[in-house]
Amino acid sequence: MTAADSATAPANTAAPANPTAPAISAHDLTRIYRTAAGDLRACDRVNLAASPGEMVVIRGRSGSGKTTLLGLLGGLDRPTSGRVQVGDRNLADLSDDLVAELRRGTIGYIFQSFGLLPMLSAAENIEVPLRALRVAPARRRERVAEVLDMVGLSAQAAQRPYELSGGQQQRVAIARALATEPQILLADEPTGQLDTDTAHRILDLIAGLVDRQRITAVVTTHFPPAMRRATRLLVMADGRLEDDVVLGAGAVSAPALM
Ligand SMILES: Nc1ncnc2c1ncn2[C@@H]1O[C@H](COP(=O)(O)OP(=O)(O)OP(=O)(O)O)[C@@H](O)[C@H]1O
Ligand SMILES: [Mg+2]
Repeated sequence: MTAADSATAPANTAAPANPTAPAISAHDLTRIYRTAAGDLRACDRVNLAASPGEMVVIRGRSGSGKTTLLGLLGGLDRPTSGRVQVGDRNLADLSDDLVAELRRGTIGYIFQSFGLLPMLSAAENIEVPLRALRVAPARRRERVAEVLDMVGLSAQAAQRPYELSGGQQQRVAIARALATEPQILLADEPTGQLDTDTAHRILDLIAGLVDRQRITAVVTTHFPPAMRRATRLLVMADGRLEDDVVLGAGAVSAPALM
């Protein structure tokens, strides 16, 4: 939302009045997994706020808690303590159905494991969230074609996931997340399966949405060029989230610390 939009927008309790207010935020967010080996603090008192026009990038070793954090932010999982706010709404105050509704309307989620439905074609997978929003069939077809083109998969529209390469499946998952034009994009390792050139194209796409459409993006990654696109770079270690004071935005390609 631009400043001009907000000046003319009616009072709306679902959207923050201030366009620079966080679109999504975490407050002392904690998720403890109870395992046979004992309690595991996968997300440990995390505080984070991301506003429109920001691309927050989170790096961290495997097992540091990135997917856990993103799942909590997206309302896919509930915290053990602490809270997530989307705009001015506390997810803890919402029923599972209302969280699902908020997710459908506001959040695009790119799963690390893609989460594609195996019996549906690429196009049909992308259509799922548009159907959930009751977008009219003609507009659905148009939008599916648009996002397939954005990720370079127009020729693969009819193929099912098992007929696609890992990188192509990942791009279908990205297209599906973008289909509904979400205000918030949560992307878990969105370039993990992509070759370098394709990864750069996907990063251009996400950074372009952040810059031009002022969406809010939270991206986890091991890919140094993604870190360089960050408006803010954070590092996760043992469930704790810190500013990336070790490397700073200028020197994030040093692989030794990844
Ligand atoms: N459902 C679960 N039950 C128990 N432990 C879990 C569960 N999900 C994740 N964990 C543990 O929580 C920790 C954080 O996992 P998470 O998947 O969030 O890490 P990650 O940073 O995303 O790792 P990667 O870079 O490999 O994707 C790990 O030690 C993992 O084994
Ligand atoms: Mg992960």
